[in-house]
Amino acid sequence: MAEGGVNVALGNVDPQDNWEVHFKDTITGGGWINNQKLVEILVKEGAERIFDLEEYGAVFDRTSEGKIAQRPFGKQSYRRTCYASDRTGHEFMATLTEEVRRRDIDVMEEVFVTNLLLANGRVAGAFGIDYKTSDFLLLKSKATVLAAGGTGRIYKFTSNAAQDTGDGYAMAYRAGASLIDMEMFQFHPTGMLVPESARGILVTEAVRGEGGILMNKDNERFMKRYDPNLELAARDVVARSIATEVLEGRGTPHGGVYLSVAHVDPHVIETRLKTMLTQFLDTGVDIRKEPMEVAPTAHHLMGGLFVDEDAATDLKGLWAAGEVAGGIQGGNRLGGNALLDTQVFGKRAGENAAKCAKSNGHVSLDRKDVEKEAKHIKSFIERRKGVRPVQIKTRLAELMWNKVGIFRNRDELQEAVL
Ligand code: FUM
Repeated sequence: MAEGGVNVALGNVDPQDNWEVHFKDTITGGGWINNQKLVEILVKEGAERIFDLEEYGAVFDRTSEGKIAQRPFGKQSYRRTCYASDRTGHEFMATLTEEVRRRDIDVMEEVFVTNLLLANGRVAGAFGIDYKTSDFLLLKSKATVLAAGGTGRIYKFTSNAAQDTGDGYAMAYRAGASLIDMEMFQFHPTGMLVPESARGILVTEAVRGEGGILMNKDNERFMKRYDPNLELAARDVVARSIATEVLEGRGTPHGGVYLSVAHVDPHVIETRLKTMLTQFLDTGVDIRKEPMEVAPTAHHLMGGLFVDEDAATDLKGLWAAGEVAGGIQGGNRLGGNALLDTQVFGKRAGENAAKCAKSNGHVSLDRKDVEKEAKHIKSFIERRKGVRPVQIKTRLAELMWNKVGIFRNRDELQEAVL
């Protein structure tokens, strides 16, 4: 789902770039509330992780000299975002899946974990459901890494996958872990708007990185009124600017704005924005000739589980990495910093959990806890009366979209709480 790329200050295209500038961009973009120790690790270790991926077989786009290509992304001082066309996240996943197979690592697919289980105050396992058989599963662990992703599905319109329902945050919180910055939700400026069934699907920032311009219904390039970096201002700025245009009556008939690459060389679109080209052709829009209609979409929660430099949470036996962890991205994440976060802190979490697992034995789980969780889950499955979960999810997603969106105020937040 992360399409446009991953930020690493390799300096392949702009040799002046380095990790210190990346650090500064990340902190200022994040509104100065990032955990700076974590950011330093993020930007210093990024290059090694990208080279790991290359070694595992990832294929990045190249410069004419054969180096990893880098494109501009929002709020970044230099062209820093390494990419594989506009399907970079997909390239990561395919590569890592292959590497997991090559190393013969056991994987349990289609398992939904419902709760963490504790023994003597530390995480010692998890309870889950095997979706293939509907059996309940008891998973015992010497060390646990939570990499459960985010919670975009709490909003009506989101770029996120169906499983991004925030269960990771919830189960860790129930087990006693601390959460930070949970109010810091990022709205990606450009999601699809039409047809309704496609609403929210990501229109990558790479479109703007490759020269895309935003226009309101009067064909005005409105970003010039909001930020000197125009379309490549920070995400929160671009999302607020689009929302303002719509609120003030300068939006498109469907309630968004136009994003156009019709002036960009068609070859660039066909090679570097392949996914976007196909995604819009499927809806009858040829982006080589016509503008896209776009609007902000719920994209990424900057907050999450409190983690330290080892990716350890404050709950013993539990590490966290990726979007489920908080503190790294501050109040607004730079596009391209999430894929980096998964690699840098994924490695740290894995290594530290492995060290711990090697020096610890299994502890016995309390049978009563396991039975309690099984009973709780059965009560959902066997219930035939009352409100259906999907009704609650739909209502919550509408409420969040309408009252806890890009612009927030006390009255609407209070309405949402009640
Ligand atoms: O726009 C994008 O391609 C998204 C990237 C990100 O969120 O990092």
